Amino acid sequence: MEKKLKVGVLGATGMVGQRFITLLADHPWYEVTTLAASPRSAGKTYEEAVGDRWKMTTPMPEKVKNMIVHNVNEVEAVASTVDFVFSAVDMSKDEIKAIEEAYAKTETPVVSNNSAHRWTPDVPMVVPEINPEHYEVIKYQKERLGTKRGFVAVKPNCSIQSYAPVLTAWKEFEPTEVVATTYQAISGAGKTFKDWPEMVGNIIPFIGGEEEKSEQEPLRLWGKVEDGVIKKATSPIITTQCIRVPVLDGHTAAVFVKFAKKPTKEQLIEKLRNFSGLPQKLELPSAPKQFIQYLEEDNRPQVSLDVNFENGMGISVGRLREDTVYDYKFVGLSHNTLRGAAGGAVLSAELLTAQGYITAK
Ligand SMILES: NC(=O)c1ccc[n+]([C@@H]2O[C@H](COP(=O)([O-])OP(=O)(O)OC[C@H]3O[C@@H](n4cnc5c(N)ncnc54)[C@H](OP(=O)(O)O)[C@@H]3O)[C@@H](O)[C@H]2O)c1
Repeated sequence: MEKKLKVGVLGATGMVGQRFITLLADHPWYEVTTLAASPRSAGKTYEEAVGDRWKMTTPMPEKVKNMIVHNVNEVEAVASTVDFVFSAVDMSKDEIKAIEEAYAKTETPVVSNNSAHRWTPDVPMVVPEINPEHYEVIKYQKERLGTKRGFVAVKPNCSIQSYAPVLTAWKEFEPTEVVATTYQAISGAGKTFKDWPEMVGNIIPFIGGEEEKSEQEPLRLWGKVEDGVIKKATSPIITTQCIRVPVLDGHTAAVFVKFAKKPTKEQLIEKLRNFSGLPQKLELPSAPKQFIQYLEEDNRPQVSLDVNFENGMGISVGRLREDTVYDYKFVGLSHNTLRGAAGGAVLSAELLTAQGYITAK
């Protein structure tokens, strides 16, 4: 890319926003030129606005420290300084829907980490290795919004990334029933142990809204574009329980699967190891070389050993074995704020850039 695209981060002071800042610090295609957050942070330098809330293990990049934070609600002012934005604001669903569309209407593409638009029929919800063809609906969305280059694209919830890619790799064996229990890290709630000391040594068997997302969102990924909208798939049936565990980063899933065409264990492992998609073919900057790794050891994947596989953009799978009630069971692990949040959004933006949807204004 001759000249880097100018990017803004909405919700830059939050946990996902900080991940965006860290991931984009030395990005070959993008340069962060604008930061925005709530009116509480507006007018302060980024360093002042974040204060003691910096949650990354690497230091705050020098380049952003003295940037003045804008108010997310001043849409025109923010949009006029950038080619596109990443969105990670925490507002009500209706407010997020409205503000992301408002940015799109200023001809600014929005790549969002939020759930607000995940079921808007003409908004693509994409994992670039799984359903890049859903970006086709962008042209219908632009017609609805009356825009030429502005649109909203989203990525799915962090909880599904430990099993949806796996089930996709096994599609030809036709999974019919899936039971998944997720063991989710506290950073998924935007927290560290410092902010949430009650989580030390604790388990909480409830994460608001998470089970519905974990059961329904994979079906949207596997859906088809019909009449300008995404129609979700109807199979497999998925049931989940989502549990908060005392882990900082990394969502684990323990999964049971029944297939219409029962494969051998060797076939399943071979499909995982060979699964790759457009990001690998196009060698996008954030694409993992190996999307899914299969680990043979009985005690893997482990959060502390495997969560950063492929810079947190790869999925680790282990303990695949036959089951007495279902056909097979396995354990999957993914990084919830990298593959599951900011990293997944950056990879989506890279694919949208490679395909000409995001360009210099
Ligand atoms: N954490 C994860 O792993 C994860 C994964 C998937 C999706 N998400 C979603 O991503 C979004 C951000 O999550 P997070 O964990 O980064 O949250 P967070 O740490 O609480 O950060 C929230 C951000 O939104 C801004 N904000 C809050 N209220 C606002 C308002 N009324 N108007 C404008 N901006 C406002 C905050 O600005 P101030 O600093 O100025 O208050 C901050 O920049 C949420 O919608 C969350 O559900 C998070």
